[in-house]
Amino acid sequence: MADSHAKMTQATPQEIIISVLAGLFAPLLAIFLVVQLVLSIQHKHQADTTSEAAQKATLDRIKPFATLVALDANAPKVEKSGQEVFEAVCTTCHTPGALGAPKFGNKGDWGPRIAQGYETLIKHALEGIRQMPPRGGDGDLSDTEVARAVAYMADAAGAKFKAPEAAAPAAPAAAGAAGGAAPKADPAKGKAVYEANCAACHATGVAGAPKMGDKAAWGPRVKQGYATLYSHALNGIRGMPAKGGNAGLSEADLANAVGYLMTQGGGKL
Ligand code: HEC
Ligand code: HEC
Repeated sequence: MADSHAKMTQATPQEIIISVLAGLFAPLLAIFLVVQLVLSIQHKHQADTTSEAAQKATLDRIKPFATLVALDANAPKVEKSGQEVFEAVCTTCHTPGALGAPKFGNKGDWGPRIAQGYETLIKHALEGIRQMPPRGGDGDLSDTEVARAVAYMADAAGAKFKAPEAAAPAAPAAAGAAGGAAPKADPAKGKAVYEANCAACHATGVAGAPKMGDKAAWGPRVKQGYATLYSHALNGIRGMPAKGGNAGLSEADLANAVGYLMTQGGGKL
């Protein structure tokens, strides 16, 4: 009598294992279903690609990218915009709020997270945090793409982060480089410019950016000389976007920021 009562109330180790597994299974099943849903939606959107009209539509759609590639010899690949990354990767969890992900466009969910600052959010998105997988689970995304997706989501919930732009074929910038010598740099005036425009990458070393004040990282770069560094900062090089992604930055301010980074990195102007 007492024996069977104990059996009913106390779980055996087997029962505990089964209930733990069942507990794990439910969220996994939920993720699986969400992924299936997204895949099936994407599948439905794959219109016929054979008809002439459809092919023309595709060409029109990719035209901006095709043009970008043609103009920008430095770009190793065309990086996706924040919205594109979001729609390809982040939406899976951030639209339904799966696993406790802050929901897209929900100010209540995002407010306290935005308050941590853009750099911290990028870091968490790159490295992962709790149920948030590193890079949203897509290891092929570049640091810049992740940073853009973070800005896209945060801005949709009220933040005003400025996403890093592509190393764009900025025509006026290129003309500036070809047109003359680099402006004189005043590192003392560069600190504020650096903090507003460059720190997002150069403070943390995102995307392989040489870290601020890291003499080992800057040593070989500084050897190229100020004029070359300025020209690379102006026009962009590999992961470094033209003018740090801020097309509106004046050349004098940019020069001051380069001078600041350079001297802090052990270089002499
Ligand atoms: C598999 C589901 C999943 C995917 C896919 C996903 N996230 Fe998340 N994300 C989460 C979860 C869950 C959290 C909440 C983590 C926590 O704070 O406990 C989160 C939180 C975040 C945060 C806030 C971090 C903080 O410090 O508060 C950012 C930023 C973020 N995700 C960016 C992204 C980006 C960018 C992508 C796409 C490249 C992405 N996520 C894709 C699940 C996901
Ligand atoms: C989106 C991230 C990002 C931002 C914002 C950014 N940088 Fe960079 N920067 C990089 C990366 C990545 C590299 C390394 C590129 C390489 O050599 O592969 C780099 C390299 C550089 C270099 C060295 C170039 C060379 O020839 O070695 C200079 C100088 C520089 N950045 C200046 C700046 C200045 C000034 C700003 C702000 C106005 C800025 N950066 C903003 C990512 C960034």
